[in-house]
Amino acid sequence: MAYIEFKNVCKNYQMGEITIKALKNTSFEIEKGELVVIVGPSGAGKTTCLNILGGMDKLTSGKVMVDGSEISSLKGRKLIKYRREDVGFVFQFYNLVQNLTAKENVELATQICKKPMDSETIIKKVGLTKRINNFPSQLSGGEQQRVAIARAIAKRPKLLLCDEPTGALDDKTGKQVLRLLQNMATKEHMTVIIITHNSAIAPMANKVIEFKNGSVSSVKINKKPTSVRDLKW
Ligand SMILES: Nc1ncnc2c1ncn2[C@@H]1O[C@H](COP(=O)(O)OP(=O)(O)OP(=O)(O)O)[C@@H](O)[C@H]1O
Ligand SMILES: [Mg+2]
Repeated sequence: MAYIEFKNVCKNYQMGEITIKALKNTSFEIEKGELVVIVGPSGAGKTTCLNILGGMDKLTSGKVMVDGSEISSLKGRKLIKYRREDVGFVFQFYNLVQNLTAKENVELATQICKKPMDSETIIKKVGLTKRINNFPSQLSGGEQQRVAIARAIAKRPKLLLCDEPTGALDDKTGKQVLRLLQNMATKEHMTVIIITHNSAIAPMANKVIEFKNGSVSSVKINKKPTSVRDLKW
């Protein structure tokens, strides 16, 4: 059995009398420690897929397995535990708390889970030791995103889910953030999934899953992923 199994997942949103079919019988598999890039046009169902995987949304039918447990049937406390301890989320616009410092933003996450990393260690890992006591408004976009990544990985999550993590960054800072995410997969054996509109990112992945119109239209496996430093764009 694969580490992540997304099996025949359908997701409908009911808007009055209209049914929006966001996911239509979608299936894919991901192994532990893989870095996966999800690409596809706007509205293809990428965020819906990530939200279901992260326990933030419910599927209409199908099944999602993570590390041997069926997370799509989790409810109540078990679902909260899964979201708190097993999933780290990184969003396009960082979502940091503006009146807390970098360190305090990371500690928000470490306070709600069992075996967190030390906040100073993790901030060092993302290269922000000198900015540890700065507020988000005193940091550049790339630095804020690195705090958001530190907050997500401080929980030692099984899954690091990133929805357009470089969407608000310039090329250079975007690459720094991607290098950090690649290190999480290769050095820390974290399973990392990145949604992007930038297909130039695809060569860094072990696997590229393309979504079209609510379904997976192709899965490509890269035997030799490119180092972020060598990505061309
Ligand atoms: N909460 C919701 N209620 C109703 N419809 C929704 C909801 N969330 C998503 N949808 C619809 O489901 C479809 C898939 O949306 P989704 O956000 O997954 O696309 P996406 O691939 O992430 O697009 P983008 O690249 O623009 O972020 C779209 O038609 C969207 O309008
Ligand atoms: Mg989206």
